[in-house]
Amino acid sequence: MAKILVATDKPFAAIAVKGIREVVEGAGDELILLEKYGEKAKLLDAVKDVDAIIIRSDIIDAEVLDAAKQLKIVVRAGAGYDNVDLAAATAHNVCVMNTPGQNSNAVAELAFGMMVMAVRNFYNGTSGTELKGKKLGIHAYGNVGRNVARIAKGFGMEIYAFDAFCPASVIEADGVKPVASPEELYATCDVVSLHIPATAETKNSIGYALVGKMPKNGLLVNTARKEVINEAELIKLMEERADLKYVTDIMPAAGEEFAAKFAGRYFSTPKKMGAQTAEANINAGIAAAKQIEGFLKEGCEKFRVNK
Ligand code: 3PG
Repeated sequence: MAKILVATDKPFAAIAVKGIREVVEGAGDELILLEKYGEKAKLLDAVKDVDAIIIRSDIIDAEVLDAAKQLKIVVRAGAGYDNVDLAAATAHNVCVMNTPGQNSNAVAELAFGMMVMAVRNFYNGTSGTELKGKKLGIHAYGNVGRNVARIAKGFGMEIYAFDAFCPASVIEADGVKPVASPEELYATCDVVSLHIPATAETKNSIGYALVGKMPKNGLLVNTARKEVINEAELIKLMEERADLKYVTDIMPAAGEEFAAKFAGRYFSTPKKMGAQTAEANINAGIAAAKQIEGFLKEGCEKFRVNK
């Protein structure tokens, strides 16, 4: 009987945990739940004798992997796996997977929630603008980007996308206009929605030069990662351009400075909320449990990210 730990500092909805339990226990394995653990010491203790771990944004580094002597697989229930030290996992002979697409509609819907809030002046009673007819730029056309495009059609937006890895023909097939560079995307669009992962190449890549290309009253929406923003440069730009707005689902490191300097044109959720829906939790959590069972029982490595 394998021991499968769900280690989520930001817990799944209870109904998702129930579904995960059904998959794990149905396969004859044991489910252990560690929620809202706060300190790393509790995680280090909980991983000691488990075979598999399901996480969200929880940090799996070399210290956690050292402590997890029986560990065979970690599944990040979600898309971004920048919270897992892949090299250390490979060195420990631990398979790492994500669950691509399972929570992407939830993130895309939140992007629109924040967009509407921003163009309606954060509901302060003054006249705002509408999304209909505006140009939307989707920066990275992956699972979330595609859902953003689908929803944007309903709003009647003109949709553009840039993706360094997705062929223009795939973007075009969705009725979205591909552009050749991030510079063109930002120069063209009234609203840019960020969907790039945090990698060595993308960290700090969204800053003064790029966002500064946006037309008057530009709005930047970030439901991706805070690390992709060059915060010092964005602050400088927003100081120079009082027309720009920034809304984010990931509190900037300089969150207090943003809030103090840009009242009325900056907003951050207090805690990353993009994937925090019952549906996304059920989809990603149950997919993670099934992927673990497939790996442990049949050696299936689909969705492995540390190849
Ligand atoms: C993801 O990468 O899947 C999203 O950022 C959601 O992250 P969360 O599970 O920590 O909310």
